[in-house]
Amino acid sequence: MIFVTTKLDGKKLAIKIREDLKKRVENLKKNGIKPCLAVILVGEDPASKVYIRNKKKAAEKVGMETFDKLLPETTTEEELIKLIKKLNNDPKIHGILVQLPLPKTINEQHVMQAIDPAKDADGFHPMNIGKLFMNQAQLIPCTPHGIMKLISEYNIDLTGKNVVIVGRSQIVGMPLIALMMNANATVTVTHSYTQDLVNKTKNADVVITAIGKTEYFDESYFNENAIVVDVGTNRNSEGKLVGDVNYDSVNGKVAYLSPVPGGVGPMTITMLLEQTIQIAERSIK
Ligand code: GUN
Repeated sequence: MIFVTTKLDGKKLAIKIREDLKKRVENLKKNGIKPCLAVILVGEDPASKVYIRNKKKAAEKVGMETFDKLLPETTTEEELIKLIKKLNNDPKIHGILVQLPLPKTINEQHVMQAIDPAKDADGFHPMNIGKLFMNQAQLIPCTPHGIMKLISEYNIDLTGKNVVIVGRSQIVGMPLIALMMNANATVTVTHSYTQDLVNKTKNADVVITAIGKTEYFDESYFNENAIVVDVGTNRNSEGKLVGDVNYDSVNGKVAYLSPVPGGVGPMTITMLLEQTIQIAERSIK
């Protein structure tokens, strides 16, 4: 049988949301507030440099300000936390983002805890994670948040659906458990120790792949009604950006599929901008 797979088009949705964000930024400016995101990068990781360049460009495109701080690899935890505290107390800064991963000499948890939870645009502070698990979310990790918006754009009701999350990272898999549960889905989390993964994904209504393995999942992992969201951002042997899912193998064999690039990636950045604007709007409410 021939199936048509609907593309979960994150690029298109991101453009639509960003048009609305532009209006919100204009409104803030009329009230004398210039929404500003502080972005901190420690070290020279090339992938991180690309990510933060994209975040900065996207912020400027919707009319927001950015404050960049590029710190050397040798920066100590104390120095980094001192900078974060300064930004916490600066009324011109609305959102603070520390790009991960940090050098091994710095404890990421200590750094996340130093960010004012009210300025935590990335939603990684333990207080924000706790609120998320109590279904009282305020600031939500941007990639899982973007996934939920993308699914909702296609009017997919998650109530009672069997959702299988592949990968349990603090940035994606773990917060997604709470978001999916809060959307009344039945959630299974799988990871590198999971046995018989294919049996779990094949029976799932929704599969979220977030393991960072180049084109790992082919059509044998999914059923024909599956909704597949690919969070992987990998380079193949030709240097091309690809996901965890082998798109060509799976396209036409499932109901919905998000591409890489153009799926989850643009949504992540859009949620970061949205949350920074949301923080800035609190000062006029
Ligand atoms: N590294 C990979 N993804 C992310 C993200 O969403 N936020 C931050 N701060 N670092 C990351």
